[in-house]
Amino acid sequence: MIVLIGFMGAGKSTVGGLLAEHLGMPFVDSDEVIEASEGLAVREIFETLGEAEFRRVEAATITGLLAGPDVVLALGGGALTTPEVRAALVDQQVVLLDVVFGEALERVAADPGRPMLHTPDLSGLYERRQDAYQEAARVVVQVSGRSPREVVADVLGALGMDSVGE
Ligand code: S3P
Repeated sequence: MIVLIGFMGAGKSTVGGLLAEHLGMPFVDSDEVIEASEGLAVREIFETLGEAEFRRVEAATITGLLAGPDVVLALGGGALTTPEVRAALVDQQVVLLDVVFGEALERVAADPGRPMLHTPDLSGLYERRQDAYQEAARVVVQVSGRSPREVVADVLGALGMDSVGE
């Protein structure tokens, strides 16, 4: 299991997909699993059920996935706000995709599917999440100014898996 964490716009889904392809493992995005099980888009869950209910479903989904078969798993950027998720990640191979705020914002600013972008103090939210990301991460990979392929190579290197699949 490789778990990708990081703020919205860090590239968790793009990098995760490429990484999984390289390793011959399935790629799973926790938000997609939530959307499939709830039958609602993440944005709709926030609108109709609220963030607290989203976090509850998110934590249950992630702990379930961590107990399942090995995959490359990308978590939503706010997953670590739930203590249960932080606890479940302690023994996992967690990779932080570390993105500077400005670049994250550039990548996702126009996306209507990301309700947390409407948070009044978005840079404050970014700052407040950094400690939890750093604490959960076994390895940290810088993604700012780098292509998804470069990031994948760095992740493999950081995990000592450089030669896998080559
Ligand atoms: C969220 C990030 C989103 C998604 C939801 C909440 C957040 O995932 O889980 O909109 O709180 O940062 P991405 O990080 O994939 O955008």
